[in-house]
Amino acid sequence: MDYNTINENMQKEITEIKAYIESYLESDIELIEKVSKYIIDAPSKKIRPILVAIIGKALNLEKEKSYKLAVIIEFIHTATLLHDDVVDLSGKRRGKDTVNKVWGNEASVLVGDFLYSRSFEIMVELEDMEIMKILSHATNTIAKGEVLQLMCVDQVETNTDQYLRVIEYKTATLFEALCECTAVLAGCDDNVRKNLAMYGRNIGLAFQISDDVLDYTAKSNEQIGKNIGDDLSGGKITLPFIYAFQNCTETQREVLKDIIQNRKVEDFMILRDIIIETNSIKFTQDKAKEFVCAAKENLKVVENSEIGSLLNFLAEFSINRKK
Ligand code: IPE
Ligand code: IPE
Ligand code: MG
Ligand code: MG
Repeated sequence: MDYNTINENMQKEITEIKAYIESYLESDIELIEKVSKYIIDAPSKKIRPILVAIIGKALNLEKEKSYKLAVIIEFIHTATLLHDDVVDLSGKRRGKDTVNKVWGNEASVLVGDFLYSRSFEIMVELEDMEIMKILSHATNTIAKGEVLQLMCVDQVETNTDQYLRVIEYKTATLFEALCECTAVLAGCDDNVRKNLAMYGRNIGLAFQISDDVLDYTAKSNEQIGKNIGDDLSGGKITLPFIYAFQNCTETQREVLKDIIQNRKVEDFMILRDIIIETNSIKFTQDKAKEFVCAAKENLKVVENSEIGSLLNFLAEFSINRKK
């Protein structure tokens, strides 16, 4: 199975969700439509709405609710990307120039706010207080994660626990919330709800860890649709760096400190060599695998075997992906 198989399996649902997205992007302000369509129509994995649709199908959730939830989650995700690219000074996203590069930071932040608040408008349409509670908490946690990450910028002594806390907040939370919300809307019992939430959390952690690996291992910017080395140029201390810093020689440690503290982006290759030499990529990938294994355990509550295998595949995909 590959990601295209998922797309083929879910073709109908994906098309219908895209139509929902389109209708919820309508605005009387021209720049909002232009900017939001620019980023949303750019080629992306759409893994979060696909997850909602697959789990919704497994749980016999009515389409209208499933699709609205999928749009809410994709809007929250896209809003965080619009904000994130400003914070990270990123120039490429989804294979295109970032919104901040084309229209400036102001447009990126403000259209991000539009998508965020639109997602809350759709949430209200679902008329479910439990969903409001999960998603308002999730968005608040994502914001906390981004701020916590900001506090760790350039901090070479950042440890694995601090890193895991950042990625749990900024990335895993949304995966967890989308799985839990799908279960809630479908009226699942507590056990299924809890396990699906854990599944989401675990693949979210694995997904972000592999994103951080790709920032060092991707062959080209075109492969990931973003600029390789953005983490380093932003002074972001991610797991490949943390492990390398803890396991390199004293001399190498001084080199790493110098590269981070002076933002020596031109020394990216030196940093990458130390990361490879200390076996840090393998360590990091193994860490991600642990979360994938845990996610697969959580899937035991899914009775529909066809759907179970799609979700199993997506757990694997979160670490095998090349972009
Ligand atoms: C990017 O998310 C941000 C991270 C959490 C790493 P995706 O990798 O899902 O981005 P798109 O939506 O496919 O562009
Ligand atoms: C993405 O984080 C933003 C959130 C998860 C909120 P990153 O900065 O790690 O992701 P990319 O590499 O820019 O996609
Ligand atoms: Mg970023
Ligand atoms: Mg990244």
